[in-house]
Amino acid sequence: MTSLFENALSGRNHAGRPPIWLMRQAGRYMPSYRQLRSTHTIKQMFKTPALIDQVTRMPIDQLGVDAAILFSDILIVYECLGIEWDFVEKQGPVIQRLENPGHIDSLKNRPVEEALFFVKEGIESLVSDIKIPLIGFCGGPFTVASYMIEGGSSKELSKTKKWLYSHPEDFHKLLDKITSLSCDYIKMQEKAGVKAIQLFDSWAGLLGPEDFAEFSLKYLKRLQSSVSVPVILFCRGSSHYYKEMATIKPTGISLDWQANLNAVRRDLGPSMVLQGNLDPAVLYAPQSVIKTKVQFILNDFQNDPSFIFNLGHGVMPDIPLENVQYLVRLIQESATHNTIGSYDNNASGSSTGMASSRAYQV
Ligand code: CP3
Repeated sequence: MTSLFENALSGRNHAGRPPIWLMRQAGRYMPSYRQLRSTHTIKQMFKTPALIDQVTRMPIDQLGVDAAILFSDILIVYECLGIEWDFVEKQGPVIQRLENPGHIDSLKNRPVEEALFFVKEGIESLVSDIKIPLIGFCGGPFTVASYMIEGGSSKELSKTKKWLYSHPEDFHKLLDKITSLSCDYIKMQEKAGVKAIQLFDSWAGLLGPEDFAEFSLKYLKRLQSSVSVPVILFCRGSSHYYKEMATIKPTGISLDWQANLNAVRRDLGPSMVLQGNLDPAVLYAPQSVIKTKVQFILNDFQNDPSFIFNLGHGVMPDIPLENVQYLVRLIQESATHNTIGSYDNNASGSSTGMASSRAYQV
């Protein structure tokens, strides 16, 4: 039996409510995550299959979401290129800079099966017994390249743009290299058992329209065609480019909260899967406000067969866990009608039992 999430991805969800999962659903807003994090470095957590497994399950057990997303990071592919990377408290990612276009050829070419074996093992361990679909992911080549060139997060991407405009051929060479390894990486995830792939091109929205097509979309398209599972495209801060994103025909587009979902649905038609787009900051508010804001989206999308409820970006570290649990409950209890068959949402059969109390009919 397919899940609500997979039904929505194929435009056939008639359960009376959308599936829900959240970007950054496993993270620092959870006391259990913070506790684990206090005894491990973030790289240990990303590189140990048992910890990947344990953290990925946290929101299944504590929220009862309809899909899980692999616990990892888009920067993990630097392992293949031999680039040093880490996360520094209060600073974010710190990456060994690629300072000169002439250095592209000196980047390593470690096969993903060797450099990222822990991801494969983490996925295999998860899919062997969770009862909801697991989503794999990968960064957009433009975003992955920009972190290497900037050395970390950057508001303007000035170093990246300087490269791109002064040495476009080298920039394409770098994107090509990242794309090839990322194709291998998502193929490995698909083979290990993920049911969908989400591509995160978080910084591409800073490009103008023709550069967005040339330096971001072109490579996302290549990634997308390397797997046969459904692909969801998320370019944070790029809701103004939803028509451009649709041109590469992903299965779905995930929208940030700046997008007008109704207008996007009208423009892209009923068959494009849409995902989003509650402003995560709403989760700071009293539950009455959360309810009003969720209802606003459900008014038009509760019975949309191709809609997946999500946030417009990730859950922030200081959001109360109770409010995230409340959000998931709101969506799951919104179903207006039941039909035949049964779908057991009890994901890993573990600790809190919250998920098991929410088995419902489709
Ligand atoms: O959604 C999920 O929970 C799946 C796992 C996931 C993480 N990062 C875990 C993570 C995913 C899909 C990402 C994607 C990611 N990582 C993006 C694209 C989405 C976006 O936010 O635009 C980007 C740009 C990154 C790079 C990154 N990773 C940054 C800038 C940071 C520091 C900021 C922060 O939130 O700490 C990270 C760290 C990171 N990635 C953490 C987690 C759980 C926090 C690690 C910790 O300190 O415990």
